[in-house]
Amino acid sequence: MNAVINKIDVLLGLQWGDEGKGKIVDYLTPGYRLVARFQGGPNAGHTLEFEGKKYVLHTIPSGIFHKDSVNVIGNGVVLDPCIFHKEIISTHIPLEIISKRLLISRKAHLILPSHKLLDAALEQSRGSAKIGSTLKGIGPAYTEKIARTGLRIGNIEQSDFEQRYQQLKNNHIRLAAAHGLDINDFKPDGLDFDAYEQKWFEGIGVIRSMSLVDSEVLVNSELRKGVSILAEGAQGSLLDIDFGSYPFVTSSNTVAAGACTGLGIAPSAIGEVFGIFKAYCTRVGSGPFPTELFDADGDAMRNEGNEFGSTTGRPRRCGWLDLPALKYAVMLNGVTKLIMTKADVLSIFENIKVCTAYRYNNTQIDYLPFDFDEGRLEPVYQSFPGWKKDLRLCDHESNLPEELKTFTRFVEEYVNVPVSIISTGPDRAHTIAR
Ligand code: IMP
Repeated sequence: MNAVINKIDVLLGLQWGDEGKGKIVDYLTPGYRLVARFQGGPNAGHTLEFEGKKYVLHTIPSGIFHKDSVNVIGNGVVLDPCIFHKEIISTHIPLEIISKRLLISRKAHLILPSHKLLDAALEQSRGSAKIGSTLKGIGPAYTEKIARTGLRIGNIEQSDFEQRYQQLKNNHIRLAAAHGLDINDFKPDGLDFDAYEQKWFEGIGVIRSMSLVDSEVLVNSELRKGVSILAEGAQGSLLDIDFGSYPFVTSSNTVAAGACTGLGIAPSAIGEVFGIFKAYCTRVGSGPFPTELFDADGDAMRNEGNEFGSTTGRPRRCGWLDLPALKYAVMLNGVTKLIMTKADVLSIFENIKVCTAYRYNNTQIDYLPFDFDEGRLEPVYQSFPGWKKDLRLCDHESNLPEELKTFTRFVEEYVNVPVSIISTGPDRAHTIAR
């Protein structure tokens, strides 16, 4: 058989999420016919800005705004019908058009309203050890999947759907109560549970009217036809369930291997792996963050970078770029091309620091040890002169300030992968390919 075998490129975040994936997928999408999300759910917030408008996507792949693209929500995703419905409305694209551009895997799992209840109950019961979850029901939905009791998108087409839904809901209510949260005290989106549940079922109605597919078959068949495909990750490698700062992680595999299980593609089908990182670091929620700044520099980064969660509005913790952590993420993902975002935010600084190693148990190491809990690693920094220039005025690599070029070269040499794109602002137009 002489079928053309294309490769699927993967795009993912290399830090703790919020690296600017939405903008970059949107920028790269014209080069791809199909964009597929492979994991995560509405805990993600992928921000896109173009033609003076800003959009935040949670579950829908970031290619949705390109009229020729096909977008797939893969089996590895967990989907909340209520949030999904609102998200469709927020795109201002009519449902008939969305239905043509967006296909949903029958094997993707559903986030039930009572998963959100459980998320809140479990987080509350953790007290000071709380994860800082987005409380979108992600952990309980993936737990249900692994426990083999979950409801999938394909189940909404079956006659016993509502009966199975009720059974799960009753279990969740009992479990939440055992963790100290009564359903009557839970107000998702400020609504009573019943009112929220009604909206959830309206969302189910919308999904029923859309194209539900066996996405693994579709993706592989498109691949054989030579269609160009981009797999879009959510969150970041340091939040990966296996390799992140466990237990302060999300509940899915955010690394490149997640694209294989989350879309049903073979490892050999993966082509380029685009790894996105910010020129500094941020983190929302709890958990270790070796280079976190608690001073005026951290506040300045947060304000200049507008580092407030696009899903929850929470202020993000900010700190200097952590190269040992970045190198670890590059290794896990087999990154072939790096994409650096938000270098423009650092234009406010006279000097820019980069962490090149850690002091740990009286020695210097350049990797993340198993027990890198809060406060155990002291970063070793190297300083670089700042560029102090409005990078949005640069429209080509050659106009970039020398100081930024030196900084970029240092990162490339440290992790041994080239930086192929530098993003200099939030708009599509603020993007420099190298
Ligand atoms: P969950 O996935 O909502 O349970 O959250 C688990 C941890 O991952 C928390 O620290 C969240 O703040 C973080 N997290 C989840 N999704 C994202 C994201 O898209 N960007 C950044 N952090 C996230």
